[in-house]
Parts: sequence; C-alpha cells; structure tokens
Amino acid sequence: MPNRNETGYTLPGKAESYWVATTPESNYPALSGDIRVDVAIIGGGIVGITSAFLLKEAGVSVAVIEADRILRGTTGHTTAKITSQHNLIYDSLISELGRGQAKQYADSNQAAIDKIEYIVRSWNIDCDFSYKPAYVYAGSEASAQKILDEVRAARSLGIPASFEGDLPLPFKTYGSVRFSHQAQFHPRKYLCALAREIEGDGCHIYEKTRALGIEGEGPVIVKTDRGNIKAENIIQATRFPIVDKPGELFKKLKQSMSYVLGAYIEEPFPEGMFINAEEPARSLRSQPTEKGEMVLVVGDGHHAGYGNPTHEHYGHLEDWVRSVYRVRSIDYHWSTEDVVPEDNVPLIGRLTPDSEHLYLATGFKKWGMTAGTAAAMILTDTILGRDNPWTEVYDPSRSRQESQFSMEDVSGIEPGQGTVIEKGEEEKVAVYRDPQGVLYTLNPACRHMGCTVSWNDAEKTWDCPCHGSRYNARGEVIYSPAVYGLLEKRIRGQDKKPYSYTRDTS
Ligand code: FES
Repeated sequence: MPNRNETGYTLPGKAESYWVATTPESNYPALSGDIRVDVAIIGGGIVGITSAFLLKEAGVSVAVIEADRILRGTTGHTTAKITSQHNLIYDSLISELGRGQAKQYADSNQAAIDKIEYIVRSWNIDCDFSYKPAYVYAGSEASAQKILDEVRAARSLGIPASFEGDLPLPFKTYGSVRFSHQAQFHPRKYLCALAREIEGDGCHIYEKTRALGIEGEGPVIVKTDRGNIKAENIIQATRFPIVDKPGELFKKLKQSMSYVLGAYIEEPFPEGMFINAEEPARSLRSQPTEKGEMVLVVGDGHHAGYGNPTHEHYGHLEDWVRSVYRVRSIDYHWSTEDVVPEDNVPLIGRLTPDSEHLYLATGFKKWGMTAGTAAAMILTDTILGRDNPWTEVYDPSRSRQESQFSMEDVSGIEPGQGTVIEKGEEEKVAVYRDPQGVLYTLNPACRHMGCTVSWNDAEKTWDCPCHGSRYNARGEVIYSPAVYGLLEKRIRGQDKKPYSYTRDTS
C-alpha cells in the first residue's frame, strides 16, 4: 500500500530523475570574455545540443551557453519516448491545418526517429536505444471512435499505424492505435555523447553562463553575465525565448507540469510504450536498469500553478500503478515542466518573418525528444540555406485561421434543433443542440465524398443527399457508404478540448 502519513502523502523513492542520477554531472567551463562564432545557441537541452552537433558536422563553428548545467532541465526529466505518436493528434491536425501541414508534422517527427537512430549507430553511442511500438489506448468506450479516426488519419499521412484490439495491459482497454518503428532511449547518455563531439575545433559549450539579452542584426551579439558572443546567427533553444520581438510568443505558450515514478513490478512488462487517450494521462514505458526492468509511470499533468499539492499528484500515480501491478518498489520520482503552444504545434524557425539571424524552437508539449530533434534539423537546414520541407507548419509567425463562426451565430438554435449555418460560399458548420442544451458543432462535409449533409429533423440525423450516408446528431455514422464520422469543427468561444462540447448557458 502507499506509504502515507496523517498529513498527506510521503513521496516514494529518490527525488531525482533516473536519467540525471545515472549519468555523470557535466563540467564545462563558463564563458570568460568575448568570443566570435558562426552560430550562438542559448540553451543546453536537446534542441541546443543537437543543433550544435549538426551544425558542427556541417563545418559551422558554434557556442552553446547554458545558465546552469546542460541537459538537466526538461530534457533531463523527460519520459524519453522517441515517437511521432503525440497522443491523438493527426485527425485533428488534418481537420484544423489541412493534410499538407499535418503531413509536415508527421514526416518531421518520423524523420527525427530515423535521425536519432542514425546518430546512435554511426557514433556507436551506448544509450539503451531500442525500437518499440507506441500505443495510444482507449481507456473508456467513449474514446473508441477517436482511436479509429486516429488510425485512419495517421495511415493517410504515411505513418505506420494500425488498430490493435487487445493489449497486454492488466486493465480493460477499448482499442488502441499502434505506431510501429518507434523507439526509446536514455536521453542523457545519448546527448552527453553528442555534447562531447561538440567541444573543440572552434566550437564550445559554456555552462554557468546566463544570457542577458541579444543585440544587433548580423552579426548579432548575445550578452551574457560572463562576456559577449558575436555570431552570424542565434538560436534560442530555451523553453521561453529570452527575446520575444513582437511580444506575441509568450501569449501563445503555456506551462504544463507532469509527474514520473520509476517503479519495479513483479510482472514482466509488455513490449511497447503506452498512453491512454483520456485525462488524467497515464503513460507507461520500461527502462533497462542494473536492478532489472524499471517501469516509468507518468501522468497527472496540469497547467503550472493550477494543480493540487505536489504530493497528491505523485500519490495519484502511486495509487494507480499499485492498483494495476504488484509493485515491488518505487525507486525514483521526479516532475517536469513542458511548454505547450495554444494550437498544439511547436514553434520552430525565424523569430519574425524579417529576422534573418534570430531563430527559436520551443513548445514541444511533452514530446521533445522527436520534436526537439526535428527542430534541430529544421534550424540547421535553414541556417545553412538548405531547403527543408517542414518549415511551414512550425513557423513561429503563423496565424491560424480563426473560425468564422462564433457562439453568437448559434445562440438562436433551440434544444433539439439542428441546422447547417453558412458564411460565404465555403464556410459551413453543422450545429445541433441536444435537449439538455449541449452544443455539437461539426464539419458538414460528408466523409464519403464531401457533399454537404443536411439536418433531418424527424429522425434527428445528418443525411447526405449524394449517396445516402447518414450520421446521428453527434456525427457518428449510422448508414454507409461513409465509414468515418463527421469531423468536429470548433467555433470561436467554444471549449477547445476535443470532443468535449460546450454547454451554452447564455
Ligand atoms: Fe455523402 Fe457519398 S458524399 S454519401
């Protein structure tokens, strides 16, 4: 049973990230005086270290500066899944950004897996790298349709995705989406090896060196508390950019906390990495250790500053893992903060459209091993003047087109009523308000061949005039030839949680 006392939870195990605890502390010098390099990189996490490694490989001189010690921040406290499976995302990316940009997201993350594997193999890095399938499972019946939608969406983008019914997990699941050819590793073993390759030949890593500001325009100067670095280009690889020229980026980013336990269990752990599709998140993966296979139990995330007392989050995870496995011991616990962008897509590229020399990468929302590696690949290509096919989706200056519909447009729809609302020739939304007042908003394009469905008030269904597909009021298929349900289409002012519809109380 959990170790509790009267005042609350007693945190289980050592309060340290396993990755940090099992690798030596780095000891790079602080900057001393002024230097000049081709590229200055602020931040010694996976983006900074990988970018420096790739740029040096291309013959560019680099300097990485880190306010504390490298690889001890978010990168040192990750779950270290190397995967393009960022929970359920591709169905909504296609719906919100279109197939082209959704494919850029998928391709860049798939390429990052290959890149990490290539570096591990080519540099013979001993970092516990192994291929594992990744699964998102439905933990409730309500999520089952979302799993099917995700399988179809991911496959349509070229990801090796499939549906799996039965998972070797000790609790009931309702189907899962499986991505093959995903991987896991020990992130600090991998990145400390990359850092060792960076030092020398005019390239540097400086620790205990804090960036204070950026001045100039090509060359640019990074002012630090230990001296200045003059460079042609600067990458801000910090969680929040220290320079936010338009003052807009901070508004697009939120902080999210999550919690990790390192547990040893009696049962053999199945092959794979697992996460549920619901809240609160419950993620599982194993890690080979000297004591045997350790299971990383991750979840209970919340926006920073809005959670319960920390003890309770660890306690929830501990209760849960003990309810599903026979736990021998919990040896580690740690937490981490991730940056989550408002549209769920990282920001990678030029700080502004006109900033020729200032770049940034942030907002990996807990999937930084692959997204951070993809960021390093994109920034390296951009700085070297090489074409990169994934820049558009991550452009920090993007403005996503807002829905043309607002809650005001649907305020006249009575409980039990449905209708398709139009604005101009193209913009349409299918709206249904159920008898309890809950609002459902859908893209009215039929999932067979795209005709616009219409509301059948007698049967409370969405009917397609072209080949007879019919959907229930929530958009789920009841008659083929359509196989998939109508896509959700959010409107301004609506709750942003997918499939959690806003109850309009106005
Ligand atoms: Fe709707 Fe064919 S387009 S049924």
